[in-house]
Amino acid sequence: MIGAQWGDEGKGKIVDIYSEFADTIVRPTGGNNAGHTLVVKGEKFVFHLIPSGILHPGKKCVISNGVVVDPKVLLSEIGRLKERGFLADDSQLKLGLLANVILPYHILFDKVREEKLGTRKIGTTARGIGPCYEDKVARVGIRVCDLVRPETFGEKLRANLELKNFLLKNYYGAKEVPFQATFDEFLAYGERLKAHLVDTSLFINSEIQQGAKILFEGAQGTMLDVDHGTYPFVTSSNTTAGGACTGSGVGPTKIGAVVGVTKAYATRVGSGPFPTELLDEDGQLIRDRGHEYGSTTGRPRRCGWFDAAVVRYANRLNGLSGLALTKLDVLSGIPRVKVCVAYEIGGVRQDEVPTSLSDFEAVKPVYEEMEGWKEDITQARELADLPKAAQRYVRMLEEVSGVEISLVSVGPDRNETIIRKNPFRA
Ligand code: GDP
Ligand code: IMO
Ligand code: MG
Repeated sequence: MIGAQWGDEGKGKIVDIYSEFADTIVRPTGGNNAGHTLVVKGEKFVFHLIPSGILHPGKKCVISNGVVVDPKVLLSEIGRLKERGFLADDSQLKLGLLANVILPYHILFDKVREEKLGTRKIGTTARGIGPCYEDKVARVGIRVCDLVRPETFGEKLRANLELKNFLLKNYYGAKEVPFQATFDEFLAYGERLKAHLVDTSLFINSEIQQGAKILFEGAQGTMLDVDHGTYPFVTSSNTTAGGACTGSGVGPTKIGAVVGVTKAYATRVGSGPFPTELLDEDGQLIRDRGHEYGSTTGRPRRCGWFDAAVVRYANRLNGLSGLALTKLDVLSGIPRVKVCVAYEIGGVRQDEVPTSLSDFEAVKPVYEEMEGWKEDITQARELADLPKAAQRYVRMLEEVSGVEISLVSVGPDRNETIIRKNPFRA
C-alpha cells in the first residue's frame, strides 16, 4: 500500500480495511512524520509509527528496519493503545533491532535548519526525520539494538555529540544536547521496548514461508520520494514500492500486488510544486469539507483538483496493480469538478511529470471539467449506488490514470467503503 500523491491519501483507513485479510502488517519506511488516521465505529485513532492493522487483535504488526524510530513517540503510542484496550499482548508488536533511532539532536537540527532556510524552507514535520536518515546513510546512526547495549550506545552517542554540539552551538547558535541525560533517557526507552525487539526481516520472511499474508503499509506518498519526488521538497526516504522491500528486508519476488492510494482530489502539506493547487474558495471548500488539516502537525493542507499526471507517474514508479480512491464524498455538492489530464508548458502539451523542479513549478494544468453531484454518498456500498455523475467521475479517473480502481472510500469510517476487488483474493 503506497501513497500515490503527496501523502495523507487515506492509507491508514485502507490498511485497516485490508488488514482483515492479512496476517501481518509491516511499516517499512518513514517515521513519525506520518499520521495515519482511522475511524472504527465512530472512534478515531491516529498512528504515527505503529501499523494501522493494530486494531485487529491477533494480527502481528511490525515496525521494520527502514523506519526511523523516535522511542518516546512509540512508547506513548503503545501506552495510548493499551489504555484503549488494544495491544494487550506485547508480542503483537515487533520492532526492528536495526531501525535507526531519532535522538534529540536530530529534532533540533530539523528545526534550526528550517529556520535558517527561511522562505526556502521545506516545511518538514520537524520530527528529526531528515537528520536521522542522514546519519544512517553517513553510517554514524544509533540503532535500536544499541539502546540495549549501554557500552556501545555510550560510545556512539559521545562520538556523535562531539560534532553535533559543535555545530549546534557554533553554527546555529542553538542549545547543546547533554550526554548524561540523553544516555539515561534513551537507555530507559531501550529497556521499556525490549519485549518488542526482534530481527524483523527474519520474522517477516519466516511468516511468508509459513504461508502468512503480509501487508506493507507505505508512509508519505510517491511525490515525496527522495529519489523520484519533487526534490528537495520531499522526505528523506523511498516512499515508493521498492522501499517496502529494502525497508523490511523482503525480496521483490515476494510482493504479489501494489495498491496505490489516492484521494479523489489532491492535497499537499509543506512547500514545493503543486500544479492543481486551488487558492480560491473551491480550495477552501475542499479543505473544510475534507477536514484537510495535518494529522501530525495540524497545518492546513494545500488543496487542489485531481492530477492524473501525478497518478500516472505513481503507476510508473510503483507498478500499481490497483488504486484505492478515497474521499469521494468530499466532492459531493461541488457543482463542477475538474480533473487535470496533462500539463502545458510554454504552450506545449506534456503528459508526464517533468524531471526538473523549475519546469514542474511552471506547468499549467490542462483540465477536463465535469458535472458534479449533490447527493450524500456515504451510504453507497457498490459503485451502482453512486449518483450517475459520481460514477462517471470514478470511471474518468480510472481512464486518465490508466489504473483500475479497486476500492472507493466514501467516508472516514471502516464501513464507508466500496470494495470492488481485493488484492488478497485476486
Ligand atoms: P494517511 O496519512 O494516508 O493515512 O491519511 P491521513 O490520515 O493523514 O488523512 C486522511 C484523512 O481522511 C483522515 O482524517 C481520514 O479519517 C479521512 N478519510 C479517509 N478516507 C476518507 C473518505 O473516504 N472520506 C472522508 N470524508 N474522509 C476520509
Ligand atoms: P503520511 O504517512 C504528508 C512532508 C512534510 C514536508 C516533507 C518533508 O501521513 O502520508 P519530513 O518531516 O518528512 O522531513 O518532511 O514531507 N510529509 C508528509 N506529508 N503526509 C505525510 O505522511 C508526510 N510525511 C512528511 O510536510 O513537506
Ligand atoms: Mg497522514
